[in-house]
Amino acid sequence: MADRARVFVTRNLPGRAIDVLRQAADVEVWPEELPPAPDALRKRLRDRDAILSLLTEKIDAELLEAAPGLLVVSNMATGFDNVEVLAATERKVLVTRTPGVLSETTADFAFALMLAAARRVAEGDRYTHEGKWKTWGPETLLGVDVYGATLGIVGMGGIGTEVAKRARGFGMRIFYTSRTRKPLVEEELGAEFCSFEYLLRESDFVTLHLPLTDETRRMINSRTLSMMKPTAVLINTGRGPLIDQENLYEALKDGVIAAAALDVTDPEPMTSDDRLLTLPNVIVTPHIASASVATRSRMAMLAAENLLTALRGEMPELAVNPEVGEAWKARVRERFG
Ligand code: GLV
Repeated sequence: MADRARVFVTRNLPGRAIDVLRQAADVEVWPEELPPAPDALRKRLRDRDAILSLLTEKIDAELLEAAPGLLVVSNMATGFDNVEVLAATERKVLVTRTPGVLSETTADFAFALMLAAARRVAEGDRYTHEGKWKTWGPETLLGVDVYGATLGIVGMGGIGTEVAKRARGFGMRIFYTSRTRKPLVEEELGAEFCSFEYLLRESDFVTLHLPLTDETRRMINSRTLSMMKPTAVLINTGRGPLIDQENLYEALKDGVIAAAALDVTDPEPMTSDDRLLTLPNVIVTPHIASASVATRSRMAMLAAENLLTALRGEMPELAVNPEVGEAWKARVRERFG
């Protein structure tokens, strides 16, 4: 790189990612716990070459318009619904993401939520904290078994596959839906491909592992909830808007399904007066499925590597819009030679 690139990082990151960026670029890190407000972000991006963003930043056409020099949006997440990719492509801005490195950790957490909801772990903890534990009761806090149950995995990508591996260990029957069939997962893990409706009807646990798009938004709604078993548990570690939360509230209140465990909500953060939080059969965690020290450090490092690769004018493997192609490379060359 001829000149040092100017990079904005929207929060402090775990691990060594920021040190690695600093070796090659002038880096400003937003120091606060809360993300930069849109105005602050616009101001910071006016003269930057690259941003390392998180899923809390909305990178839309308006922001990109205010950042004429921006070459790269390196999003530290597997999902990229916070980025208007078409608007980026139009402006010859490359977008990258960090899939793969978080699959196992996220699958662990989906299982943690499944077990917690099935075996009423959060309720049991509240019960103890509130001084309600008076004796061992044969009918106290009875739940349902995870082992041997039927699991429906909606979306068999990297995370869905890791969930299936864990389900095997629990002796579960596995149904799945996916854009494409996965012969290896079928052969090795015994997962059975089926329609979404069939999966909803047959599964004791339904877990969502697909991206948020116009097609998947609110795919869980009163119509699809009514297809599920009254004993079913819904788990979401994907994106909040996959579920119509008003419909979910009604379904949980009326016993259409038994319980839900959500790591993602719509909106985020969920406010403390949200009606879902009045229900005992709902667990909500604050979008932490990938939050292990090792995995978040890996995600940060991968986002830094994607960013630096791109600023060298090379197309990173994890580009979301490689179609920016030569026109984008020409912009990078013009800037850095
Ligand atoms: C987290 O939700 C991610 O998309 O990485």
